[in-house]
Amino acid sequence: MTETSYLSSVRTSYDTVAVDYARLLIGELERKPLERAMLAAFAECVRGSGEGGGAGRAVADLGCGPGRVTAHLDGLGVRAFGVDLSPAMVAVARRTYPGLRFEVGSMAALDIADEVLGGVLAWYSTVHTPLPELPLLFAEFARVLTPGGYVLIAFKAGDERIRLEHAYGHPVALDVYWTPPDRMAALLTDAGLTEVARLIREPDAPERCPQGFLLARKAPEGDVSGP
Ligand SMILES: C[S@@+](CC[C@H](N)C(=O)[O-])C[C@H]1O[C@@H](n2cnc3c(N)ncnc32)[C@H](O)[C@@H]1O
Repeated sequence: MTETSYLSSVRTSYDTVAVDYARLLIGELERKPLERAMLAAFAECVRGSGEGGGAGRAVADLGCGPGRVTAHLDGLGVRAFGVDLSPAMVAVARRTYPGLRFEVGSMAALDIADEVLGGVLAWYSTVHTPLPELPLLFAEFARVLTPGGYVLIAFKAGDERIRLEHAYGHPVALDVYWTPPDRMAALLTDAGLTEVARLIREPDAPERCPQGFLLARKAPEGDVSGP
């Protein structure tokens, strides 16, 4: 698949499933203590990232889908907004959370100025991006983050490509890429985002692979730390 065709398949597929995805996933975080712990740590890091860091700055939830995680972050006291490729997902998010901001956009070319964000969240939103395209996304994440800002990525841990032709009660055409955690960390490092912590948890049925959560940070201004 070319980049264009993969993005248009992702957009069309999520436009198709948006309403049912939102209905099925709402409240899911309430049953996920480890996910909530990673999101709480991320929010606390962003809020406390101090002088020259991201404290007080906004957080972009990239690939926000129906906005459930954006709203969760808002509840944790960070100024969160959402961006998603799928206009139908953004419409659901705006309807469900009218007090929050959601925009249609692509993670590969963000309509966000350089170094303005305290945090970037990509919660299972890079899973449809072929591995060779991930450096482009991570370069965008690094560009929009202020020095000292944080990234949190949730992803499927492994080394497989799964073809989905049916999801959330609808026909779709989606590839899901499982990524080895060390490979994900190395790609972030290459983009200037240094790993702070990771959590790999075992699959909960009906998940088919471990779930990865990687917290990384862009170096604070004046950081001259070395070996
Ligand atoms: C599995 S859903 C996750 C949605 C949300 N983060 C959540 O956990 O509910 C993946 C989302 O990422 C979005 N997405 C995938 N690739 C994207 C890209 N390149 N730019 C923006 N959004 C993207 C899809 O449209 C979809 O809404």
